[in-house]
Amino acid sequence: MLKRVDYDVQQYQVYSTARALSAEMAQVWSSAFARWAGTPGPFAALDLGSGTGRFTPILADLFGGLVYGVEPSERMRRQAEQTAAHPSVRYLAGRAEAVPLPDASCRLVLMFLTFHHFTDRPAAVAEIRRVLQPGGRVLIRSAFSDRMPELLWHRFFPRARVIEQQVFPALEDVTRLFEAAGMTVLGIDRVQETLGPDLATYAKRLRMRAISTFEHLSEEEIRLGFAALDEAIAAGDIPGPLTADSDLLVLGAPPA
Ligand SMILES: C[S@@+](CC[C@H](N)C(=O)[O-])C[C@H]1O[C@@H](n2cnc3c(N)ncnc32)[C@H](O)[C@@H]1O
Repeated sequence: MLKRVDYDVQQYQVYSTARALSAEMAQVWSSAFARWAGTPGPFAALDLGSGTGRFTPILADLFGGLVYGVEPSERMRRQAEQTAAHPSVRYLAGRAEAVPLPDASCRLVLMFLTFHHFTDRPAAVAEIRRVLQPGGRVLIRSAFSDRMPELLWHRFFPRARVIEQQVFPALEDVTRLFEAAGMTVLGIDRVQETLGPDLATYAKRLRMRAISTFEHLSEEEIRLGFAALDEAIAAGDIPGPLTADSDLLVLGAPPA
């Protein structure tokens, strides 16, 4: 059993720098959210596990309504309040298993790399369904254990792949949970993300360890992984720009 990663301990120190969203990636994700929202807005949305607020103001600009950023880590939330403030955004302490919002208060719920952190997924799905309006949409950016992509960093940290296969849920299990709550799968988008212009730039970001999987690796595994990465940079046989395919699962609530 892997330990739960608490973002108040390590990740909050590096997350916003190492995971900073480029203008290009902000645009790529905005287009994907707009493509799957089902209606242009204005409407209220929930960014569930909003972290440092990477996507919360983006949702407010995109859909023109109030956006709630619900986040359990106090230190991540504080950064969001300081660096990702927006007149239509409210950051709230809370977690997916007990969302601090009234019934039917949101038209869209985004979970960006958060679903795998939820400790009680059936309770979280019940809460998402409760706060969702009829005809509402749920967008889940996640990896899924039964369709893990070939990730570049896994080549250098082979046990990271094994760990992520345990950490991320199977697509089938996620869809079953939402279907049991009366929702329908509308699609699964493959969105291409840019990791960096070249391997050296990507390695610099990776060294900040702003991927929670690092917390499950030993210091020796991490040392060996970065040594292998440095060798690959010196050999120059992995040309940039570097990209990765990311899954965006889209679910819909039944209309009124
Ligand atoms: C990888 S970060 C993603 C943050 C943000 N969505 C982003 O993409 O930048 C995962 C976030 O999920 C939060 N989280 C962990 N458990 C949670 C839960 N039970 N309910 C809601 N959020 C949770 C963590 O505190 C962390 O901020």
